[in-house]
Amino acid sequence: MDTSAYLRSHIRTVPDWPAPGVQFRDITPLLQDPKVFRVLIDTFVHRYMDPALRPDVVAGLDARGFIIGSVLAYELGVGFVPIRKKGKLPFTTVEETYELEYGSATVELHTDAVKAGDRVLLIDDLIATGGTMMAGRKLLEKLGAQVVEGAAIVDLPELGGSQRLTDSGLSLFTLVDFT
Ligand code: PRP
Ligand code: ADE
Repeated sequence: MDTSAYLRSHIRTVPDWPAPGVQFRDITPLLQDPKVFRVLIDTFVHRYMDPALRPDVVAGLDARGFIIGSVLAYELGVGFVPIRKKGKLPFTTVEETYELEYGSATVELHTDAVKAGDRVLLIDDLIATGGTMMAGRKLLEKLGAQVVEGAAIVDLPELGGSQRLTDSGLSLFTLVDFT
């Protein structure tokens, strides 16, 4: 079995959660199994150790992006910065509001999280509409950083997010598609 199929086989689909009609792609079984978790992290480490892609900083998106992003940063020997939902970060922040399927959400980043010119890897568990990753990218760019790549375990291509992100010029790396 290739890596993508192996990881996919450890992602659970929960129908009608958190709302009717949503097929929730749950990565907790993947994280729970140490062998699978290691394959996941090693796959990202292998890619981002390449000097052409090696970031100065890993930025993780709230909340599941923290789990993989922090381990990856540790393995790469670079710092980790959290992009959090509004109201959680204590220092001065930049913020970005974006549209969800229903309503809107705001994410924040500490103003000293990255420096102008930093090369940043932006990571989350999943891309659906792409709104969360796009907002994270805007925050990093407001501080003058360059997002070298957006990465996620799962892409839901039918929701159009990955297409929108790549159309906007962001390089994307994902491991498992659910259509
Ligand atoms: C999920 C997921 C991504 C986002 C993707 O997070 O972990 O962050 O949605 O959706 P999008 O591409 O349409 O923006 P959620 O908002 O459920 O938060 P959580 O990680 O705190 O559960
Ligand atoms: N975030 C947005 N859509 C999702 C889905 N279908 N499964 C898991 N997380 C999500």
